[in-house]
Amino acid sequence: MKKYAAIIPFVFLLSAVAPRLLYSAAELSDYMSSSNIGEAIENQKNLAFTKELEQCGNLNLNEEDYDDFLNSANLLTPKNNLLILVDKTHAVGTNFDDIEYEVYDGNGRLKMTPETLKAFKDMAAAAKKDGIKIWPISTHRTYEYQKNLFSRSVQKNGIEHANRYSAKPGHSQHHLGTAVDINSVDNSFVYTKEAAWLSENAGKYGFSLSFPKGQEEITGYAYEPWHFRYIGKDAVKMQDKYFGGSQQKFLEFMHKCVF
Ligand code: DAL
Ligand code: ZN
Repeated sequence: MKKYAAIIPFVFLLSAVAPRLLYSAAELSDYMSSSNIGEAIENQKNLAFTKELEQCGNLNLNEEDYDDFLNSANLLTPKNNLLILVDKTHAVGTNFDDIEYEVYDGNGRLKMTPETLKAFKDMAAAAKKDGIKIWPISTHRTYEYQKNLFSRSVQKNGIEHANRYSAKPGHSQHHLGTAVDINSVDNSFVYTKEAAWLSENAGKYGFSLSFPKGQEEITGYAYEPWHFRYIGKDAVKMQDKYFGGSQQKFLEFMHKCVF
């Protein structure tokens, strides 16, 4: 029996890292209502996960960082989908078509979750003080809207280009109501003072650049200097400190090893 006891933690670890490609409705509902990351970590500790958690994402933490990492993670919450992984292999389907949003503009076209809208307004006000004008041009999208957008991109630019710049329906961060395209979706945006301001300051307001330059292999998408996702200030700090500023690596870690 003793011989087998040693493999139990590895069995738990394997089940924690098993790939989950499409969230079921039940899973999403659990995710949205799960209490907090501290609890999840506590459970993992109880299962003798302390070292395995680190190995799961190949984090190279020393003793001091490890405590800080857990404390930082403890501040985060999976509620409101702020940290849900949505990428080329993780889809949310139509689950976010009808949740409650607030509108930014008069005609109700630009919808975001209430906390994303608040954070965006705070960021825009700070930008204004620095003489910078920022505004959202694309926010929440339904599954159907993304489907049309993707097919139009294929028709206009071909499948290869579409796959680099547009998510397939169900796979877009825009479904969540926390992703915002800012000012322009033209590549020339990168040379503007608005883009420079965002690159320097967005993190202070909890916004993270989803598809940075040179990370197509990691994110699956070409550089999009306009596409930010609101993940919250504490999450941005953790992303920057432990994942080299990579939102994708951070969210993958949380998905695989923590939530
Ligand atoms: N442009 C990003 C990848 C999207 O369509 O969600
Ligand atoms: Zn976008």
